[in-house]
Amino acid sequence: MTRSLPDFPWDSLAPYKRTAQQHEGGIVDLSVGTPVDPTPVVVQAALAAAADSPGYPLTAGTPALREAVVRWFARRRGVTGLDPAGVLPTVGSKELVAWLPTLLGLGPGDRVGIPAVAYPTYDVGARLAGADPVVVDGLTALGPLTTATAPKLLWLNSPGNPTGAVLGVEHLAKVVAWARRHDVVVASDECYAELVFDGPHAPGPAPSILDPRVCGGDHRGLLAVYSLSKQSNLAGYRASFVAGDPALVARLLEVRKHAGMIVPGPVQAATVAALDDDAHVVAQRERYAARRAVLRPALERAGFEVAATGAGLYLWSTRDEPALDSVARLADRGILVAPGSFYGAAGERHVRVALTATDERIAAAADRL
Ligand SMILES: Cc1ncc(COP(=O)(O)O)c(C=O)c1O
Repeated sequence: MTRSLPDFPWDSLAPYKRTAQQHEGGIVDLSVGTPVDPTPVVVQAALAAAADSPGYPLTAGTPALREAVVRWFARRRGVTGLDPAGVLPTVGSKELVAWLPTLLGLGPGDRVGIPAVAYPTYDVGARLAGADPVVVDGLTALGPLTTATAPKLLWLNSPGNPTGAVLGVEHLAKVVAWARRHDVVVASDECYAELVFDGPHAPGPAPSILDPRVCGGDHRGLLAVYSLSKQSNLAGYRASFVAGDPALVARLLEVRKHAGMIVPGPVQAATVAALDDDAHVVAQRERYAARRAVLRPALERAGFEVAATGAGLYLWSTRDEPALDSVARLADRGILVAPGSFYGAAGERHVRVALTATDERIAAAADRL
């Protein structure tokens, strides 16, 4: 299994990190999207109140959690008719992304469609199942398809990591119609939906694959993958879920019960509290909007062109030079970023600059730029 996996990309950044650490003002690490602001008090309190937890939690999630997810999708994403049986908590969404092809029973000979520049775990998940990742850059790029040659699973990511692009209702509806024609399961990773800053979809949330304007209220063959890591500063809790087609979710649940893929009880309680509170999400979006407003013009003044996409936690930036030249140039100024090549060959002349640093570190980066 490990032979089929790529080297872990971030390990290769070690020399640039050492260079950046030598800067007299210290490193500004913008290479990963790990939140740095406090976990909201309302969520910490719910975790603490549920700390006495001697028994095994439900793999399916408590009824309270499943209902909180249904309420949140209705209130924030305009999703009606979501069945609580179509909701399942996951141990962070990276876990689900990495194992979904395996949990769906895909294997050698099956194809998994992934975006051209993408979060690397979509590719990893296909490989873990022994399936073949294929870049799907537009639906016609796959050519004429039969049920035998069509991908079994197609990943979407909107707003996208690393580009920040948002897929609109019309685009999503076309993908769903295509997927239904070819019997393809669509998994839509939407964890940045509440973090929209500019453009026609601001201030968000971005449309969901489960939105009735996208799927006509029919969730068959569709899964929305969601995480509270980013919008609620809960990456340390591993609080996330998948929602959509109850028949698909039942298949996932059956394997996950046998395999012990269970979200801890106190984290399930904390997830309910986080989903029921919108105020902290608005405050967090405003923090990131302010950092974006400082960092983006500073990158542009330093000669970078920044993608005009408007959402997510990254500035997808290029000086039209090889990615590692840009990484080295920024490391000399004490700023660590990720080369676009981590996200696919199409990113080889970009860098990904994360907004996940304190106001003080973002100001330091802007100053140096
Ligand atoms: C597109 C995308 N999906 C999933 C994840 C995983 O998030 P988590 O495992 O914290 O839920 C990330 C994290 O950066 C991401 O960018």
